[in-house]
Amino acid sequence: MKWKQQITNLKAYQPGRSIEDVKKEYGLEKIVKLASNENPFGSSNKAKEWVQSYGASYALYPDGYTTALRLALSEFLKVDEKQLIFGNGSDELILIISRAMLEPGKNTVMATPTFPQYRHNATVEGAEIREIPLVDGSHDLEAMYAAIDAQTAVVWLCSPNNPTGVYINNDQLVQFLNKVPNDVLVVLDEAYFEYVTAEDYYNALDIAKQYPNVLVLRTFSKVYGLASFRVGYGFGSEEVIRALEPVREPFNINTLGEGAALAALSDQEFIKKCREENKKGLQQFYQFCESEKLDYYPSEGNFILINFNCDSDELFQYLMEKGYIVRSGNALGCPGSVRVTVGSQEQNEGVIQAMKSFIAEKAIRQ
Ligand SMILES: Cc1ncc(COP(=O)(O)O)c(C=O)c1O
Repeated sequence: MKWKQQITNLKAYQPGRSIEDVKKEYGLEKIVKLASNENPFGSSNKAKEWVQSYGASYALYPDGYTTALRLALSEFLKVDEKQLIFGNGSDELILIISRAMLEPGKNTVMATPTFPQYRHNATVEGAEIREIPLVDGSHDLEAMYAAIDAQTAVVWLCSPNNPTGVYINNDQLVQFLNKVPNDVLVVLDEAYFEYVTAEDYYNALDIAKQYPNVLVLRTFSKVYGLASFRVGYGFGSEEVIRALEPVREPFNINTLGEGAALAALSDQEFIKKCREENKKGLQQFYQFCESEKLDYYPSEGNFILINFNCDSDELFQYLMEKGYIVRSGNALGCPGSVRVTVGSQEQNEGVIQAMKSFIAEKAIRQ
């Protein structure tokens, strides 16, 4: 069959092992999943209550304009409703952007390592991929700018960056955007925006107002704790949104997802509490890294990349057998490291103890 040549070597997404599966294999009663940067505190009760009380028909298609959530977000963000686009998770927005802009003969610029879906979708579309290595966990914006040419269609910025947790500050971003040609779309992926507390972080709403070639992506999957519903959104200039809309599937946001997101948006107290707990959790990891003399990047997300200078897969396996699922750095382009989602205080303490015993056992064996 006549497959696109570029997809013949692509691998399908490898889902992590299910909690049930790991429990069974290792005879464990409790598993703590700290692998996908999900919210350890779940989601707002308002979202749960809304979903439980939903009694309308399942037979009707959802609202293809996502009107209720659109209006609420437009009010919340103070942007026009025409400046918003919704995706089945921000994953789908990455797909929509790629589908709308990338093709053979064009190129796209991104950091490495970063969120792998930028590369994946660019590969499917047959575009040239220009990956610029991070410097100290941070985007090398000068080198990224230097990689842009007349064929560049999209630049991907991930802030805070997955997997390092390092953010781009306001001055760095503005300096970069002042130079980027205005016919290049700059995607600012802010999946972890709500966790950020750094004072020199930019204001993406002001940025989007000032630079019509910027599209900001956010999601209800992380701090809002609604990953299973798949609701992401983008905001930018009306011109960019208008061009992307025809590429979007008509009913990509389902009714339950829209309602749950709407209810969750109305509970900003929950978001604030999760942000505060996350900061405390990060401190637990920082203390551990400092006492064990392990390198790490200070993180503005809900995860931390820790360099154990070991075989990451071995540590991953060790932690899994103790009931903690993390992400091996080998899968993230960071060999020697693991990425751990910040959990509840108790979960953090547990995984830190397991990491300590790994370090101690390794020292005995050496
Ligand atoms: C940086 C980044 N962008 C986008 C996503 C996709 O999130 P979702 O599709 O659940 O909105 C993730 C998920 O891990 C992410 O880390």
